[in-house]
Amino acid sequence: MAMAAPDGFRYLPDFIDRTGQQLLLEEIRSIVAAAPLFQPVMPRTGKPFSVRMSNCGPLGWVSDRDGYRYENCHPETGALWPGIPGTLLELWKKVAPGHPEPEACLINYYGPGSKMGLHQDRDEQTFGAPVVSVSLGDTALFRIGGTKRTDPTRSFRLASGDVVVLGGDSRLAYHGIDRLVAGTSTLLKNGGRINLTLRRVT
Ligand code: SIN
Ligand code: FE2
Repeated sequence: MAMAAPDGFRYLPDFIDRTGQQLLLEEIRSIVAAAPLFQPVMPRTGKPFSVRMSNCGPLGWVSDRDGYRYENCHPETGALWPGIPGTLLELWKKVAPGHPEPEACLINYYGPGSKMGLHQDRDEQTFGAPVVSVSLGDTALFRIGGTKRTDPTRSFRLASGDVVVLGGDSRLAYHGIDRLVAGTSTLLKNGGRINLTLRRVT
């Protein structure tokens, strides 16, 4: 069903050029070398997510049988998360001017069959700042609705270098990834997609 995007939602196609994407990818590689991707599971059921995750920043988002939450340490290594790269802090300043720095950058890795069900980002203590999301690698079909699960949704493609800002009325909009479109990017040698999600938590 067609709908107008909620106010405060911004889709910025091709925001990061190829060189910028490659630099960002190198930075993510070194972060993941220190803070390896882990396999989160759903609260209570323990069902594994189809994406693997890591984080950088003072706080990292984790999910296990005890629930969704922010932690300052990696769940497997116990080490503090690596810092958020300066390039991402600069991006935040451009697309979320006037908001305090992000405290968390979630790194989601999608393999060929990965998806992410419709959800709200609502584990933060404050929703004043937008959520800023960066796509790298294969194109994904992104779906966004309103602030009620039953609201109509629309879907569109997020390609490598695209940035999405969920601010204002869209800060608590339901969103998810239906699937990847294989073979749409050469950025990641073995295909797949990386999504970076910057958030203010406190
Ligand atoms: C998320 O909502 O955490 C990820 C969205 C995306 O992969 O684009
Ligand atoms: Fe999300």
